[in-house]
Amino acid sequence: MIRFDKVSFSYNSKKILDNVDLYINNDEFLFVVGESGIGKTTLFKLMYFEEIPTSGTVFFENFSSDNIDVQEIPYLRRRIGVVFQDFKLMQDRDTFDNISLPLEIIGDKKDTIKKKVFDAASRVGLLDKLNKKPFDLSGGEQQRIAIARAIVNKPEVVIADEPTGNLDPIISMDILKLLNEINRRGTAVIIATHNFELVRKLRDKRIVQVKDQKLYEVKIRT
Ligand SMILES: Nc1ncnc2c1ncn2[C@@H]1O[C@H](COP(=O)(O)OP(=O)(O)OP(=O)(O)O)[C@@H](O)[C@H]1O
Ligand SMILES: [Mg+2]
Repeated sequence: MIRFDKVSFSYNSKKILDNVDLYINNDEFLFVVGESGIGKTTLFKLMYFEEIPTSGTVFFENFSSDNIDVQEIPYLRRRIGVVFQDFKLMQDRDTFDNISLPLEIIGDKKDTIKKKVFDAASRVGLLDKLNKKPFDLSGGEQQRIAIARAIVNKPEVVIADEPTGNLDPIISMDILKLLNEINRRGTAVIIATHNFELVRKLRDKRIVQVKDQKLYEVKIRT
């Protein structure tokens, strides 16, 4: 589904990734770990073509970073649900309107939007919070809105950047279970985190570490 072929990436003169290969299957559950500032978010941005490699190629299904047309990028993005590191929720809109945003952008009909939003909200357990604004919700609930918005249009992959960053261990585990459930229903899930303790708890998952501009497969010894 996603393939990195000899990808290097630099911000100005600062090299973040050096000649890395990566293959992600369409049913994968993958953790991306690594120190703060090492390049996890950058790796994600390359996956949804927010950044283009300095050299090498990123593929998403039939899209290639070598020759993608700017006009095609919105079509690619529809197939990828992104949970941003800082949520990117709109503070002046309630839960329903935050979740519905991607559907409004593609111009779904009102009835369809309602159905899809209720479905996504029920999957993340937010049906009773649809009229609340982010300000009146907890961090865990806001994270759930961000996840609901990412899955509302049934993407093939969900990319979640540090989804447990500011949450306590119990709520973090709930969020991971939710993402695991999304994966079990047939969506690839990729999670960036520096919370290694949490990764340890789901020890049968694939882990890729970003380190020294390279990617390493990590095995947890049990
Ligand atoms: N737009 C940008 N322009 C220049 N440098 C950037 C830009 N975005 C990120 N960087 C730098 O690239 C490096 C990697 O950043 P990135 O956000 O990918 O790290 P990260 O692993 O996601 O960190 P964290 O765990 O703190 O989220 C950092 O040194 C950062 O300062
Ligand atoms: Mg990051």
